[in-house]
Amino acid sequence: MDTTPAAVPVTASDPAQRPRVMLLFGGRSGEHAISCATAGGVLRAIDREKYDVVPVGITRSGRWVLAEDDPDVWSITDGRLPEVTDGAGQVLLPQSADDRALQVVRDGSAPAVLGAVDVVFPLLHGPFGEDGTVQGMLELADLRYVGAGVLASAVGMDKHFMKLLLAGAGLPIAPFVVLRPGEFDRDPAPWIQTVAELGLPVFVKPARAGSSLGISKVTDLADLPAAIDAARQHDPKVIVEAAVVGREIECAVLGGRPGEPARASQPGEIVVTDSRHGFYDFEAKYLDEASVRLSCPADLPPDVLEEVRAIAVRTFDAVGCEGLARVDVFVTPDDGVVVNEINTMPGFTPFSMYPRMWEASGLAYPQLIDELLELALTRPVGLR
Ligand SMILES: Nc1ncnc2c1ncn2[C@@H]1O[C@H](COP(=O)(O)OP(=O)(O)O)[C@@H](O)[C@H]1O
Ligand SMILES: [Mg+2]
Repeated sequence: MDTTPAAVPVTASDPAQRPRVMLLFGGRSGEHAISCATAGGVLRAIDREKYDVVPVGITRSGRWVLAEDDPDVWSITDGRLPEVTDGAGQVLLPQSADDRALQVVRDGSAPAVLGAVDVVFPLLHGPFGEDGTVQGMLELADLRYVGAGVLASAVGMDKHFMKLLLAGAGLPIAPFVVLRPGEFDRDPAPWIQTVAELGLPVFVKPARAGSSLGISKVTDLADLPAAIDAARQHDPKVIVEAAVVGREIECAVLGGRPGEPARASQPGEIVVTDSRHGFYDFEAKYLDEASVRLSCPADLPPDVLEEVRAIAVRTFDAVGCEGLARVDVFVTPDDGVVVNEINTMPGFTPFSMYPRMWEASGLAYPQLIDELLELALTRPVGLR
């Protein structure tokens, strides 16, 4: 006898009930553990009176599983990096836009209905999470979610197309060259010449990575091939940029409420205090955090702070971003502003720059989470 339970669609949640939030974390990128740590922070801070929380982890191989609702499990303690593992039930997304019921499969058993979710909060960094791929799955199922949509996520991940859009919107960026797979190897001489024309030093970067992975500062053209190889460990497409002399300033942007413009936080300055880090590299970001300080608001003249905030909002709009983003700029010695990049899912633990800049601007972490969920709950599904 077939005892398969019918996958009864649970209709959109009853307005009398708390909205159900799926926290999605872990994932296939190198930033899996950082994403878990973020989930720990959000699980601890989210308002349980207001929201019903369903934690869903994505394993390193991409399986979606029910995860423990315990902030301590997901925090980084004594150097132990948290990881989503198989085991608990596998979560299946709705197969059509007609219902929002998740299903769960345990030990090869028939799928059971887990219930509807009202909104997904993808706390994912890097490829296969922050780059529009997961956002595409959510769009297919008509699920509401926090943050940038498919295009803005993909553009935010790809420094090449990001820069084309920013330049198109008239935003100030550093001169750059893109090296596609094979081009440099076929005939390096003209490429070396083009890079030389940017002026040394240059920064050589994988087009689609993050956390400063694979990035080198090149001060001698003889080191260019090795720097390109290092970048290619992460992405076959490489971008080479003229170095900007300036202070590193970040600004947190929050999408506007319906019909209103996006909002910018007080800008903060990243100060790398240990000169052994030639720039804000991976070690400075995660392994030697004592060498990095956030000063917020940055110690800049008021008109320069305003300029940074205006440019951050223009950058957010230029890539068609939604929900949240951190815009990173350089402020040059003559107070010029050059955009470095936009991050559509910036670090989001309570200790990360994005929440700290909002904290310094009067919006505490639990309220920030609430605001992001409100924005996502009120935005339409489908083409917007
Ligand atoms: N054009 C540049 N001029 C000066 N410093 C740069 C430049 N590009 C990158 N850097 C340095 O490298 C760091 C990482 O580069 P970034 O483009 O932000 O990559 P990621 O996406 O990995 O954070 C920056 O925070 C900055 O310290
Ligand atoms: Mg960066």
